[in-house]
Amino acid sequence: MPALRLPHALSVLILAVTSLSIAAQTLPPRLDVPYVPTPEAVVLRMLQIAEVGPEDYVIDLGSGDGRIPIAAVRDFRAREALGIDLNPQRIAEAEQNAEMAGLTDRVRFVEGDLFEQDISSASVLTMYLLPRVNLRLRPVILERMAPGTRVVSHAFTMDDWEADHSEMVQGSYIYLWIVPARVDGQWEVQNGQGERFTVQLRQRFQMIDGSVQDGPYSAPLAGRLNGAQLTLDMGGERYVGRVDGDRIEGLGGEGAVGGWSARRL
Ligand SMILES: C[S@@+](CC[C@H](N)C(=O)[O-])C[C@H]1O[C@@H](n2cnc3c(N)ncnc32)[C@H](O)[C@@H]1O
Repeated sequence: MPALRLPHALSVLILAVTSLSIAAQTLPPRLDVPYVPTPEAVVLRMLQIAEVGPEDYVIDLGSGDGRIPIAAVRDFRAREALGIDLNPQRIAEAEQNAEMAGLTDRVRFVEGDLFEQDISSASVLTMYLLPRVNLRLRPVILERMAPGTRVVSHAFTMDDWEADHSEMVQGSYIYLWIVPARVDGQWEVQNGQGERFTVQLRQRFQMIDGSVQDGPYSAPLAGRLNGAQLTLDMGGERYVGRVDGDRIEGLGGEGAVGGWSARRL
């Protein structure tokens, strides 16, 4: 009889809605990258090529079971390490692993989207993500991270931002980039004799080209950044300096011009 079937249909509907909402609550959050752990030998080499040491604050984006932040503190004596992962199950595993290693005072894990966290204070950034995720991260890294920050990626590149170093470990590629200082624009250089001339620097990631203008004469220049250290070859001479915002202090050194400085115009 229909009158008897209605309560049954209603309870089926209520059951379906309830189970759907429970399933939605327990579903893993939308991940940009599936979980695949980095082999331990690759973790070791990633942290070695980043030259992690006691001064470093290491952040692993998409930290999985926490193996990279834990190894950074345990094996490389990093000052502090943070892992960020969107999947609560991974965070729980990572926290348990940090606890087992007795490192909970220096290794932390945050459940969240890696694109929504402030990563600007890391001195070393590690990742095993995907090419399109690396590419989305690239402007954040270049604009917000301090010059000299080391960025290490397992397996994937940053498209046309050429790595400063790459190598293969047990069949896996590792890439290292050093975040370059921002030098694009016009600078006035003063040499050791007090003479001044203007240089125009064009920057593409760590690669520099441009021109040097001395009175009516103009000549091309080429250069490269290693973090905040700028090397320029111009007028047959090599200039090496340290960039600090709108100033560059000449460093001199073997075969390089000494006693120079520059200011941004
Ligand atoms: C390939 S695994 C790498 C795990 C670990 N870094 C390693 O190398 O062993 C990628 C990790 O990123 C996490 N993930 C995916 N999308 C994310 C997002 N938008 N924000 C934070 N974590 C994310 C996944 O849950 C997974 O644990």
